[in-house]
Amino acid sequence: MTQYKIPVIPGDGIGPEIIAEGRKVLDAAGEVYGFDAEWVEYPHGAEHYLETGELLSEDTLKELSGYDAIYLGSIGDPRIPPGVLEQGILLTARFYFDQYINLRPVKLLKGVNTPLKDKGPDDIDFVVVRENTEDLYIGVGGRASAGRSKGTAEIVRNLYHVKFDLDIETDSSEIAYQIGLISRSGTERVIRYAFELAMGRGKELASVDKANVMADIYGFWREVFTSVADDYPDVKTDFNFVDAICMWFVKNPEWFDVVVTPNMFGDIITDLGAMIQGGLGLAPGGNINPDGVSMFEPIHGSAPKHRGLNKVNPIATIWAGAMLIEELGERDAANAILGAIEENLADGKVLTYDLGGHSSTSDVGDDIARRLRHS
Ligand code: IPM
Ligand code: MG
Repeated sequence: MTQYKIPVIPGDGIGPEIIAEGRKVLDAAGEVYGFDAEWVEYPHGAEHYLETGELLSEDTLKELSGYDAIYLGSIGDPRIPPGVLEQGILLTARFYFDQYINLRPVKLLKGVNTPLKDKGPDDIDFVVVRENTEDLYIGVGGRASAGRSKGTAEIVRNLYHVKFDLDIETDSSEIAYQIGLISRSGTERVIRYAFELAMGRGKELASVDKANVMADIYGFWREVFTSVADDYPDVKTDFNFVDAICMWFVKNPEWFDVVVTPNMFGDIITDLGAMIQGGLGLAPGGNINPDGVSMFEPIHGSAPKHRGLNKVNPIATIWAGAMLIEELGERDAANAILGAIEENLADGKVLTYDLGGHSSTSDVGDDIARRLRHS
């Protein structure tokens, strides 16, 4: 029997409840498909930070480097200022492990209602490939007051190092700035991944940018996209401004098959994607480094107000678990988990409140695990 050691970070808020259901379903998949998951639990998150001051230390990151995939619940806690945990844990892991692809399926499963009138599962079935290490997320920014001031910032990536020396002079009382950066190598690799994905699907790839306004950064994105596209003459491509693609996601989601986007716009359009596929409770994501440590999570947050109530929908997390096991090579098990999720939804009897049901988080996990065992 194949053994997988999988580190799991349940995290904050509803994280532990949804991760418990994800583990339950992956354990059931292991029984059916002949693998055994050994879970290695990590306490990182708000509580651990308040007790020890550790977000995600170099030592922990080194330890996690020994695995292929991490299973993450959710991070964020009202006792801690916004951004501290998100940057110190989630973004730190994404950058440290160079998880340059954020893969977010937008698929309306049968039995789920979309807020889009007259659209169904045949219309809403695409994948967003979000760049996950660059753009406005590099964390270079600051404030300056009237007069002259200096600042430095450094970005350390596997692909490159960049140092900014900023010499700022202003007569404004105070300014704030945030710098976005994309590199040729960082852009090329994610766009290439998206083309490869498109080759295995509908051979259509839509690119997202805002090259009409931020011409330097996203004009460069287009240039790199165009040069990679030369290697894939069979893939039909187009460029979309981010504001326009929001409109098309709502009006004509059937146009899309694979969408590739810079980091910031990818963050925004995948929340929209989650809504058209039936809500945040149904939207999974994978932070992927094809040659390194990947990390799988629901795209929603820690929903502190629902914590401990056994109420929220665990399906996004269970689906993220399916993506995890697929990354480890268990494609049949992953498909079977998605199949069991679809059966649960189509049956419509064991649903959480967000889908109009009255069942609990653990009821839904039980139902999906049961269906998997009988598949
Ligand atoms: C996401 C989240 C994160 C992001 C936050 C929590 C840092 O919104 O995964 O989409 O902006 O990437
Ligand atoms: Mg987001």
